[in-house]
Amino acid sequence: MSTPTVEELELAAGDAVLVRVDFNVPLDGDRVTDDTRIQAALPTIRYLIERRCKVILCSHLGRPKGRRNPKLSLEPAAARLAELIDDEIVFAHDTVGDNVEQLIRDLPHGGVLVVENLRFSAGEKANAPELAAALARLARVYVNDAFGAMHRAHASIDGVVAQMEKVAVGFLVCSELAALTELRDTPRRPNVAILGGAKVSDKIGVIDALSQRCDTLLIGGAMAYTFLAAREQPVGASRVEEDKVLLATRVLERCEERGVTVMLPTDHVVAQTLKADAETQIVEEIPEEWMGLDIGPQTRAAYGVAIAAAASVFWNGPMGVFEMDAFAAGTRAVAEAVASSPGHTVIGGGDSAAAARKFGVVDQVNHVSTGGGASLEYLEGKDLPGIKAIKARR
Ligand code: 3PG
Repeated sequence: MSTPTVEELELAAGDAVLVRVDFNVPLDGDRVTDDTRIQAALPTIRYLIERRCKVILCSHLGRPKGRRNPKLSLEPAAARLAELIDDEIVFAHDTVGDNVEQLIRDLPHGGVLVVENLRFSAGEKANAPELAAALARLARVYVNDAFGAMHRAHASIDGVVAQMEKVAVGFLVCSELAALTELRDTPRRPNVAILGGAKVSDKIGVIDALSQRCDTLLIGGAMAYTFLAAREQPVGASRVEEDKVLLATRVLERCEERGVTVMLPTDHVVAQTLKADAETQIVEEIPEEWMGLDIGPQTRAAYGVAIAAAASVFWNGPMGVFEMDAFAAGTRAVAEAVASSPGHTVIGGGDSAAAARKFGVVDQVNHVSTGGGASLEYLEGKDLPGIKAIKARR
């Protein structure tokens, strides 16, 4: 069953449209330090402005635990959006209620209103029917373009949908689904997946799902040490999730049964402390009291060869502590290899998207997802609550 899109909606000038966006962006005080997610929502916002709709934007930002927290206000995101669309935006200091409804009545056709952080209300995460009903009073039409939050069964993603007259997904969600569905269901072969990051437990589901359709799996980041421990390799003082070693062993066995080549780091950048100016060494065997903090040059080269031979590539998770220059070379090498790959390349959101931006390769990749957890859950084959709720209205 297909998902209705914003282009299929019959819209008239003056229609109020509630758009769920993912403006969960990093802030430095009242400045947005990375506006990628705001830019990604622009096609839908502009489309609705052009149709002279009243555009009501709602989003979460951070995890304020159901309480008002001025440091997590959406006002800086609204200000950045105003710069991007080069027009005035009305900001509502409440999320729902009489004041917001009055602001909407006063909004001109083609005007944009941003309401305050949904998670200032505990009802958002609890998927409370009262909050869903209050959101539904803001507009007759609902568009979900918050791909990064589609895996959350919250009031603005799930509960509200059943209460709206017309519902659809926006352009960002459409492009995310197109890129990730191809990768999940019909990847071009050979298909290489590169997975990194801190925790094995976060990636087990996706490794299992990807291993059904991928040819080579490259593992890096802190979780590589749990896999190395599973292969009984020396890991020194590296971070190992002791309670996940058995799970990692099973994953390796399943990959072998499925004929997937799993590559683990064969050399490492090690240090005794996690500090930007720590003394480092490059080693093949990690000595006692030293910890692996990045993949070494031999591993970078081997991973580069595998990526260059791929017809499709999915990358999620850094290869090391790339925020520190001393441990950034592995992630940079993978980012550059993905960028120069002739295959179809997709980067899952979160840290790997941040790394792709840091190393300036975003424009050379076919798709960089705005969703971290959402993209992984989708690739795992899970139903995303946001999509499910909208499909249920067809
Ligand atoms: C994200 O940043 O991955 C999304 O905005 C979802 O945020 P959450 O993990 O706080 O629900």
